[in-house]
Amino acid sequence: PAVQRAFREHGRRIAAVIVEPVAANMGVVAPEPPFLETLRELTKKNKALLIFDEVITGFRFFYGGAQTGMRITPDLTTLGKIVGGGFPVGCYGGRREIMEMVAPLGPVYQAGTLSGNPVAMAAGLATLDALRREKPYARMAEMTRVLVTELRGMARFKGLPVQVNHVASMLTVFFTETPVRDFATAKTSDTKAYGKFFHALLDRGVYFPPAQFEAAMLSAAHSPADLERTLDAAARAFRRL
Ligand SMILES: Cc1ncc(COP(=O)(O)O)c(C=O)c1O
Repeated sequence: PAVQRAFREHGRRIAAVIVEPVAANMGVVAPEPPFLETLRELTKKNKALLIFDEVITGFRFFYGGAQTGMRITPDLTTLGKIVGGGFPVGCYGGRREIMEMVAPLGPVYQAGTLSGNPVAMAAGLATLDALRREKPYARMAEMTRVLVTELRGMARFKGLPVQVNHVASMLTVFFTETPVRDFATAKTSDTKAYGKFFHALLDRGVYFPPAQFEAAMLSAAHSPADLERTLDAAARAFRRL
C-alpha cells in the first residue's frame, strides 16, 4: 500500500524502485505474494525501473538468483558477494536498451579503480563455474530446513518466544512472539536477547550474524558435522537465555 500511495501521489516522477527480492537486511523476510508482482505492475505502468538488489540473494538460492525462483524479471539487477568468489566485486546487468546506455555504446561513463579487476573477475568466474557444476542449492536448502526445524523445537522446548524465518539457505532467529512479516514486526524482536544468543554461539565457535537485522547463511562448504556443531551450540545458547 505504501508504494501504491507513492505512485498515486508521484506517478511518473519516480525513476526506479529498488528492493531486495528476499529481504536479508532486516533479517530474513520472504516477500508475500503479491508484493513483488505488484511492484512489477506498478513500475511498468508508471514507466519506472524495477531494480532487484541481489547482492545477497544472487547465485545463493538458484543459479539465476531469487528472480528465477519468483519468476519476476526486473529491469536491472545488482550483484556482489558470491559473484566475486570472495573478492571485492559489484556488478549490475539488465535489459539491453538500458545496458546500451553505458559507455562505449552510450553516454553513461562508469569506471573505478577496481572495475573489471582481473583477479576478482577470475575468482568470480571460477566460483560461478563451480556452482554450475556442483549444484549445491538443494542440499543447502535441506540442511537449512533441518537447522530451522531444530532451532524452533529447541526454543519451543525452552518456552522462548522465537520466530525462525528462512528462505532456502538463509535464516534469521528473531526473539519475538510476533510472526515477522515486515520491518515493523522485525522491530518487535528483543535485540538484547539476540545479542546474548550471538555471543553464546560465538563462545562455542559458531559465528552467526552479529546483529539481529541480518541473515545467517549456509554455504556450500558447510557439512552435516558443522550442522551438528551449530545445533549443539544453539542448544547451549538457548539454555543461557
Ligand atoms: C543487499 C545489499 N545490497 C548492497 C550492498 C552493498 O554492496 P556494495 O558493498 O557492493 O556496495 C549490501 C552490503 O553488504 C547488501 O547487503
